[in-house]
Amino acid sequence: MSLRNAKVGLVFSAFGFALAAQKQPAANESSTVVWKQPVGAPEQFAGTAACENCHVVEGLQHAKTPHANNPPNAIGAGCESCHGPGKAHIDGMDAAQGNDARIEAARRLIFAFNASPKENSGRCLNCHRSSQDQQQFDRSEHHFNGVACNSCHSAHLVEAAETPNPPRTLLPGAHFFTPPSRTEEQRWLTSSLLKKSQPDLCYTCHAVVQSQFTLPSHHRVNEGLMKCSDCHSPHGTRNQPMLKKTSWEGCINCHIEKRGPFLFEHAAVKVEGCAACHSPHGTVSRMLLLRREGRFLCLQCHVNPQAPNVPHGRLGFTTRAECVRCHVSVHGSNHSEFLLD
Ligand code: HEC
Ligand code: HEC
Ligand code: HEC
Ligand code: HEC
Ligand code: HEC
Ligand code: HEC
Ligand code: HEC
Ligand code: HEC
Ligand code: HEC
Ligand code: HEC
Repeated sequence: MSLRNAKVGLVFSAFGFALAAQKQPAANESSTVVWKQPVGAPEQFAGTAACENCHVVEGLQHAKTPHANNPPNAIGAGCESCHGPGKAHIDGMDAAQGNDARIEAARRLIFAFNASPKENSGRCLNCHRSSQDQQQFDRSEHHFNGVACNSCHSAHLVEAAETPNPPRTLLPGAHFFTPPSRTEEQRWLTSSLLKKSQPDLCYTCHAVVQSQFTLPSHHRVNEGLMKCSDCHSPHGTRNQPMLKKTSWEGCINCHIEKRGPFLFEHAAVKVEGCAACHSPHGTVSRMLLLRREGRFLCLQCHVNPQAPNVPHGRLGFTTRAECVRCHVSVHGSNHSEFLLD
């Protein structure tokens, strides 16, 4: 190893150590998911071991997920917790003796998520309804538009591995933030069994949003520093459009200094919300502003700057200056009722 390589190795192992040192110990909490036995008489179930005889790859992958042996040795645990009772399917396959028509008939004796989106999600929700994060799913835009759990999640990697993430055009600088490469399987196991990582997963359907995040001023989602799920819940919420928190509350999670309360609030911020002036995804204007010239943004609501008590009209500020040149505390002020400092 050359000296240069040795140094690089050192830097990377130190980095790895720092990450490991920062990792929090897993909270000793019990699962919020209540395991429920799938519908079927006990004698209709065959057990995971029986399935693994023929479905080797699915068996190997399933064994690594939190679904394996959860709970241990229960009737209907493992494969059959999602696919339902499998004894008839196995008996059919055993009796088929290589006959194509009979294999085809036996294939249909097991639930394989080829049903309606509602039915497919229903399988997962049989257990996951009890977890806080998923219980709004039935009321989500995704549910209403035929997006099911298995549109985003892959209980086995089989399908995902066949269609790897397409290469994404990264923005300049993005490679500084690209995490060290992992195998597709490691990624899948550590990121909630998702078919793809965010944002690629979301971009498969949300092309308009994808184009918004490539605009010059944007939150660094494509760079991997933020996720769609920092602001939205893909499983649905009580807020439109599936935002984790309403209006400005979702933003002040990170932008704490905009929270206030201020002595002099700007009603625009607290009533209309941040999206009155900013586009949360991206814009051509600086600082995610909805208008290239900030004053037009202000004039949308402050329609009458020529009102007698406003000195601006006479001095021509409305045509020449940026309002925030003077109204610097546009998000709220503790000093000036006119948001001047
Ligand atoms: C005797 C061998 C055998 C056993 C045991 C077996 N299967 Fe299958 N299974 C098959 C074959 C063959 C197919 C058809 C494969 C294909 O179409 O590529 C199949 C297909 C499937 C499918 C896809 C059906 C579809 O409509 O596409 C699922 C899901 C499935 N099996 C689940 C299970 C589960 C769960 C178990 C255990 C309860 C199990 N299998 C046990 C042989 C078996
Ligand atoms: C958490 C739910 C879940 C569990 C547990 C599960 N599967 Fe699946 N399985 C699915 C879903 C969902 C699909 C549909 C394809 C997809 O979306 O990945 C599927 C598809 C399949 C298929 C069709 C071929 C394919 O991969 O598309 C087979 C065969 C299969 N599963 C076998 C098994 C076996 C064997 C086990 C146990 C070792 C098992 N499954 C456990 C959810 C599950
Ligand atoms: C029979 C009950 C049951 C069914 C059906 C079920 N799950 Fe689960 N699932 C669980 C349990 C239990 C856990 C473990 C939860 C824990 O330990 O916190 C889990 C964990 C998960 C996790 C978390 C993985 C992680 O890395 O944290 C995901 C994602 C998941 N399930 C998705 C699904 C999907 C998608 C389906 C339908 C295709 C499904 N589940 C069907 C019981 C079920
Ligand atoms: C539109 C895509 C999408 C759909 C549809 C979807 N999920 Fe998820 N799911 C995600 C993403 C993305 C994450 C990771 C969230 C994060 O990292 O903050 C996730 C995380 C999870 C987790 C891990 C723990 C948690 O609650 O965050 C579970 C369990 C889960 N989903 C279950 C389900 C079930 C069950 C369904 C169907 C009722 C479903 N998901 C539908 C995208 C989706
Ligand atoms: C399989 C396709 C698909 C995937 C993958 C997907 N979505 Fe969606 N999403 C839709 C459809 C269809 C709608 C409803 C139509 C619309 O509003 O565009 C929707 C609606 C939404 C909405 C609500 C829009 C509104 O106007 O109310 C949000 C927010 C959203 N998705 C976020 C996400 C996020 C975040 C991800 C990734 C974790 C994601 N979606 C992945 C298809 C998808
Ligand atoms: C910084 C927070 C934030 C991030 C990150 C974010 N969004 Fe949004 N998103 C919002 C807000 C706020 C709205 C509502 C905008 C409005 O009211 O004008 C919205 C609106 C939407 C809508 C509905 C309106 C539309 O433009 O079609 C969709 C769909 C959506 N987001 C998807 C996504 C996807 C996909 C990602 C990740 C690639 C993402 N969002 C990342 C905050 C965010
Ligand atoms: C998960 C944390 C997080 C959330 C939630 C969030 N932001 Fe940000 N925001 C950031 C970070 C980090 C930056 C700095 C990004 C950079 O330097 O590229 C930023 C930058 C900005 C900027 C300034 C951009 C610039 O060019 O200086 C604006 C405006 C902004 N965010 C508005 C919002 C709004 C509006 C919301 C709510 C819809 C929101 N943010 C939610 C993390 C967040
Ligand atoms: C009335 C319109 C308006 C509203 C509402 C608004 N902003 Fe701004 N914001 C602006 C303007 C104008 C700028 C540019 C200020 C400048 O040029 O100095 C800005 C700049 C920013 C910046 C970057 C500079 C800085 O001050 O840090 C962030 C971050 C930001 N806003 C976040 C938010 C958040 C979070 C909310 C909601 C709590 C919000 N804004 C609501 C008009 C608004
Ligand atoms: C979404 C509408 C909206 C936008 C956009 C908006 N404002 Fe406001 N603004 C208001 C409302 C409503 C009030 C409270 C008026 C009142 O109390 O009479 C207010 C109050 C003010 C005040 C204090 C006036 C007073 O009488 O106390 C100033 C200064 C101000 N805005 C400046 C700005 C500037 C500068 C911008 C552009 C960066 C802007 N506003 C954008 C709605 C808006
Ligand atoms: C050169 C500095 C400057 C610029 C630029 C400026 N303002 Fe002002 N603005 C002021 C001052 C100073 C006051 C307080 C006036 C007073 O004391 O009566 C004020 C007051 C206001 C008020 C409150 C008026 C009232 O009496 O309720 C509003 C609303 C306002 N400005 C909006 C704007 C908008 C919109 C723009 C951009 C089109 C803008 N300002 C540009 C300096 C400025």
